[in-house]
Amino acid sequence: MTTPMSAHHHLRVNGQRLWDSIMAMAEIGPGEQGGSRRLALTEEDKQGRDLFIEWCKAENCSVTIDDMGNIFATRPGTDNDLPPVCSGSHLDTQPHGGKFDGIYGVLAALEVIRTLNENDISTRAPVEIVMWTNEEGSRFAPAMVSSGVFAGLFEKEYAYSRTDSQGKSLRDELEKIGYLGAQRCGDHPMAALFEAHIEQGPILERDNHQIGIVIGGQGQRWFDITITGQDSHAGSTPMPGRRDALVAASGLIRAVQKIALEHGPHGVGTVGEISVSPNSRNTIPGEVFLTVDLRNPDDAVLGQMRDRLGEHCTSISDSHNVQINLDEIWHNPPVRFHQDCIRAVSDATRALGYGHQEMVSGAGHDACQVCRIVPTSMIFVPCEGGLSHNEQEHAEPEDLEAGCNVLLHAMLALAGR
Ligand code: GLV
Ligand code: MN
Ligand code: MN
Repeated sequence: MTTPMSAHHHLRVNGQRLWDSIMAMAEIGPGEQGGSRRLALTEEDKQGRDLFIEWCKAENCSVTIDDMGNIFATRPGTDNDLPPVCSGSHLDTQPHGGKFDGIYGVLAALEVIRTLNENDISTRAPVEIVMWTNEEGSRFAPAMVSSGVFAGLFEKEYAYSRTDSQGKSLRDELEKIGYLGAQRCGDHPMAALFEAHIEQGPILERDNHQIGIVIGGQGQRWFDITITGQDSHAGSTPMPGRRDALVAASGLIRAVQKIALEHGPHGVGTVGEISVSPNSRNTIPGEVFLTVDLRNPDDAVLGQMRDRLGEHCTSISDSHNVQINLDEIWHNPPVRFHQDCIRAVSDATRALGYGHQEMVSGAGHDACQVCRIVPTSMIFVPCEGGLSHNEQEHAEPEDLEAGCNVLLHAMLALAGR
């Protein structure tokens, strides 16, 4: 199935065009500090999708939308009975998101198709761009929910019923922006999937390598925690006997940090969201909601981290006279990518002469869901200071271009001539 790279070994993407497209996308839903704010299924997300589809149609791709709002833009091959060789990522962002997380992967795949078109190169299998709905999981938890439905990890009805903080459902919001498509999610054929992404960590920059050959992704467990104490007057309630849910929460936040450090060097743990009720200066907080994100590349160790969290909840609930409800909303086990796809990326990287290393992804990605049913792998490029989920997120144009060249040749190898 593999075509030697020598067939088109001089072929390169247009790095300037790729950069310009990323910058144009960033103008939709600009952040206040130079990044982007395009939360899933908002008006900004719709505008980003519309622009992406316009660009795909200009390249003569046919566009299919499934009933999770995932978008597939297909460039026909010479044998269209073959399933397409795909690549993509997401266009939604974090509330204080950067210009590159996800966007790079979608627009790198578009740049591959633009390059094939302008060089009049036909492939045997169709080549396709994929844009997955709600990767970030910021507005609707959990993350990667639509690639998860595609991979059979979530029921569609479960995904539809996810709500944002205003109680709006994912399905209603999908319909509202006009992206509730007709194709049943999961029915779309796929021979292989690549995802190009910024690393979102400091390793490539530290090691001065342009390409990360990603062999897998670490596991994640997400929790919703509600701590219930008692609202009470801040002036007249003596300190002993208070049932202060926020004081209990502070103990839990420290416990999450401790758990991560105790399961080093790879364990990480984060409390990223918290809400306090009634959130009034002179009332002792009676209820706190918070989220916990635990990750580890080893599923057994990740399980130990979960157990420790449960133990801390029990002891804090006893010592602070509060109730703690610990709800595990998501367990995403670590994954290992497919050897054929890893090899395609590795061969392309070596042939192009880029400095590289193998690595495991610290972040979650749609590729980490779809890899359970389709041969998949990822390509990482460095980002400045390893910073991501931050408006200052930055990647160098030449690194983005290098990753896109690797993607081009990996896709060509699998799509054949
Ligand atoms: C996705 O951005 C993640 O949480 O890793
Ligand atoms: Mn991403
Ligand atoms: Mn992200």
